[in-house]
Amino acid sequence: MKDQLESLRASTIDLTEQTFDIKALGDARIRILGRKGELTGILRGLKDLPVEERSRIGQLANHIKIELEQLFDAREAHLRNEIERAQLATESIDITLAGRRMVLGKSHILNRVTRELVEVFSGLGFQLAEGPEVEIDYYNFEALNIPKDHPARDMQDTFYFSENVLLRTHTSPVQIRTMEKRKPPVKVICPGKVYRRDADVTHSPMFMQIEGLWVDKEVSFSDLKGVLTAFVREYFGDKLDLRFRPSFFPFTEPSAEVDIQCVICGGSGCRTCSFTGWLEILGSGMVDPALYKFVNYDPEVYTGFAFGLGIERVAMLKYGIPDIRLFYENDVRFLNQF
Ligand code: PHE
Repeated sequence: MKDQLESLRASTIDLTEQTFDIKALGDARIRILGRKGELTGILRGLKDLPVEERSRIGQLANHIKIELEQLFDAREAHLRNEIERAQLATESIDITLAGRRMVLGKSHILNRVTRELVEVFSGLGFQLAEGPEVEIDYYNFEALNIPKDHPARDMQDTFYFSENVLLRTHTSPVQIRTMEKRKPPVKVICPGKVYRRDADVTHSPMFMQIEGLWVDKEVSFSDLKGVLTAFVREYFGDKLDLRFRPSFFPFTEPSAEVDIQCVICGGSGCRTCSFTGWLEILGSGMVDPALYKFVNYDPEVYTGFAFGLGIERVAMLKYGIPDIRLFYENDVRFLNQF
């Protein structure tokens, strides 16, 4: 029996060395070491042996079983390793393949222009101020001298949440909010989104404005002209002409709109400028003293001016963009040009 066991051991060692297939190896393991396998078969004769022989052979059989189990384990690990090595050799990475390009984001052109404008006005001494886009009637209209029945409300028809809460139609409510909080001198620049029921090549239902406000002792109309002319020269250079055109706003008196020559056509007239050669970029005027009573400023002591500038218009002029809708279509072919 001892010989039988030794010979099973020897033949199994040979067998595993000559097996190169994991499945065949598994089958062999069951055939030899399994519950009804060859080893068990040999040990069936155990019960016929004398007692002391029985335990010696039993021990030997156990050792051989453990040894052979380890042999099968080792062979299997070895074969798996070989397979992986072979796979790696054939599935190598093709380093000549073009990589995937990372797309870098950038600021939207309108945000960039806004930053540039704030920078120019900072240089003229204005400080940044902000207000909410969802506004109440009082700040958007009432305190700007536009009472309930005023016809100017029609021109700024907008989106209402309720009778008193609306999307602001301009950045002018920030004037009131700022004056309410601070005593003169006040010199602020207030960028932000505004909303109106309007849509064509130069109007969008959502657009951006920058409000400017300067209130102090002895701020005059020549300061208004000086600041706005300095801004146009600084931002657009000397090539484009500008003009001040008398106008009306309920919250400024007197009022003026500022036009810049149309860069698209050079002033000869095109679709963008409605064939006038000019594009309006801002409304402005001396703060109407009627506003001061809403914010407790003394109109006998303080004067000031305000302006509201359309950021899209300025961007269109600066970069020669013919249609306001391009800003909001999110076409990266357009946006990547800036
Ligand atoms: N709020 C005005 C508008 O949106 C512009 C403006 C601002 C005019 C400040 C005068 C002074 O049309």
